[in-house]
Order: sequence, then structure tokens, then C-alpha cells
Amino acid sequence: MFNSLPQPKPDAIIALMAEYAADPRDTKVDLGVGVYKDDEGRTPVMRAVRKAEERLHAAQTTKTYTKLTGDPAFVKAMQELGLGQATDRMAGAAAPGGTGALRVLFELVSRAKPDAKFHISNPSWPSHEGMLNNMGLSVSKYDYFDAETCGVRFDDMLAYVNGLGADDIVVLHGCCHNPTGANLTDAQWAQLTESAIANGWTPLVDLAYQGMGDGLEEDVTGMRHMASKVQRMMVAQSCSKNFGLYRDRAGCATVICPDVDETKLVQATLASVNRMLYSFAPDHGAALAEIILNDPELRADWEAELTEMRERINGLRDGLAEALRQATNSDRFDFIKEHRGMFSRLGVTPEQVKAMRDEAGIYMVQDSRMNIAGLTEEDLPAFARAAAAAGA
Ligand code: LMR
Repeated sequence: MFNSLPQPKPDAIIALMAEYAADPRDTKVDLGVGVYKDDEGRTPVMRAVRKAEERLHAAQTTKTYTKLTGDPAFVKAMQELGLGQATDRMAGAAAPGGTGALRVLFELVSRAKPDAKFHISNPSWPSHEGMLNNMGLSVSKYDYFDAETCGVRFDDMLAYVNGLGADDIVVLHGCCHNPTGANLTDAQWAQLTESAIANGWTPLVDLAYQGMGDGLEEDVTGMRHMASKVQRMMVAQSCSKNFGLYRDRAGCATVICPDVDETKLVQATLASVNRMLYSFAPDHGAALAEIILNDPELRADWEAELTEMRERINGLRDGLAEALRQATNSDRFDFIKEHRGMFSRLGVTPEQVKAMRDEAGIYMVQDSRMNIAGLTEEDLPAFARAAAAAGA
């Protein structure tokens, strides 16, 4: 039976992890998968997470099931973190990571409107398109990234969404756009909000990197403005990056509804969707995030460490732009300083990406997406020299 299965197409990001691991060079540099690394190249367990784990270990008396939509205290804490408040117009469910939250929301939409059309940015995180295709849902792309300026093609994006209507779901990146690092301004979020209200389309915000751009609050000002104005909106949150809980799979799906009755119906449907997909969401990572968010001391330490991580990335952005200026004798990479989040697209060809891998052991995704956090200060001159040698 299974020998007739079509060979699955390897996921470019995951395949790169394996290629990097197999490379014997000790000078290799991993700028592939979106995982934070410190200046020693380690992905640490965050201090507050360690302490929360100790507390959980000491206090937890049972591993019995939570609710189908997870621990309500976790969902509430996540809504407060992302949206600034948890209200009776918000339904919510714990999910296995941000990807799990997206999957649940896609499923919810397809139950409500099987003909709904999803619209994702061009480019976007590859799993957006992959998951929607895998579910047989309609997916199109709106213009987003301008390869010339390395900024957002906002006029084109706005014109596109202005042509949408009530059957359309627009997937937006809450902050720290993946893969480009080019983000919407608060004024642009406000214009998109007006468009959603005027044309009736529904936003679905993928919020996977809150706190990795300019700050926990700063990163979500635009999204929160939208949430405060529109009738309906969905948000998929991840605890993978900002809590460093990657393998524990903690995430949260929230749906903002126009009234309490619809909220109750959505809440019941989220429970049913979870039951059909995987029954109960994992709780270990969710419990850690909830402990941290609700304990002033742990929360302060978590925020301090997240600030250190963000400042390291933003410092690397400045250093990298400067190193590339010197190596290439041009200012064309200055956009790296303006971008925010883990990623930027270097803007080189797949051949140049390959040359940098072959010659210098630098691993970037083929579209030249690079995880800035994978660099160290020491790497910067060599990276810039390798880019220049490849013809960047
Ligand atoms: C990434 O884009 O590298 C991360 O979101 C990890 C993943 O699952 O792809």
C-alpha cells in the first residue's frame, strides 16, 4: 500500500538543518532555521523557563487532561500578552505551537466557510502555503516585498486587499515578517484596518515573533489597533521563539467575534476542532508560559532576557550592514539595519547562496533568507567577505 506514496517534497528549511548538521567544517555558520542563538552559538533554555520548570515540577500533582481548549489561564495570559486584554468577545484555545494554532484556525474557517479564500504575502513563511494546500483550501498571494528597495510594496498590497470581500481571509504577519524582515508601519496597519472594515475581509494574524523586533508592546501596536476596530479577527501565537520553548510546542489560537453568542459558538467549535485533530493540546510548555506571565518576578526576568536577545539581534543588524558596506563598497545592504526580527533576505541569487555555502560554510535558505541571530560579532567580517566573493 505505502509503496505507491508520492515522494514528499523536502521542506527547504528542515532539509537545510540536516545539511548543516552533516557538514564537517568547524567554521560553518547556521543561518537557516529560525532559532535564536546567543553569542556562543547556543540556544539556551531561558532563565525564567528554568525557574518555572522547577516550580512546575514541585507543584504539579497530576498529569491528567486539561480542557480540550487547554488551560484557560494560559489562554487568558496569552491574549493579554498579544492583544493587551482578554475579553468576552475572544474565544481561544491552546495549540501545539504557532503552527498548531494556524492549523486550528484554518480548520475553523473551513468549517464555517468551505469556500473561503486565503491570501498570504508574497513571499511568506512556506508552511502558510503548504498547510493551506495540504488542506485543499484556496490560497493566493498578495504583493508584499519589494526586492529593489527591500521594503514593503504597501500600495500594491492595499490595492489587492481593497479588492477582497467577506469570503476572504488575509494572513498577516503580526511583526518580524518571515522571511523578509520588512514590516508594516503602524500607519499601514491602520490603513489595512480601514480596508478590512470597508470591504469585509477577515484578518488572520500570525504572531510568532512578538518581542523579537522592537519590544513586546511596540511589536503589536499595529495589530492591536486592528483588533480594537474590526468585528472579527484571528490570531495565532507561538511561544517557540520569545519563550524559547521550541520543542515543547506551546501556542494559542484566538478568535475575536462580534458578540458573545458567536464567541460561545466559536469556543465550542475550537474544542471540537481540537478533539478531531489531536484531542488535547500539549500542556507542559503552556504551563511554563502561564507561570512566567502571571508571576511578576519571573516575568520581569523573562522580559529582561528577551530584551537581551532582541538587542543582540539588532546590534548584529547594525554590525552586519557596516561589514557589508566595507566588503562591497556599497550601501545597498543598509536595509538590514531597518529590518526587524530574526530574518532578513540578503537579496542574492540562489547561485550566490550556494557559493557562500560551498566556499565559506554559510547556510542560508535558498531565497537568501538569513537568521541574523545565527551570526556572532566575530562572524561578521568573514560573512561579508564571503558575500562579496560570491558577487553580492
Ligand atoms: C522558520 O521559519 O525557520 C521557523 O518558523 C521554523 C519553522 O518551523 O520553519
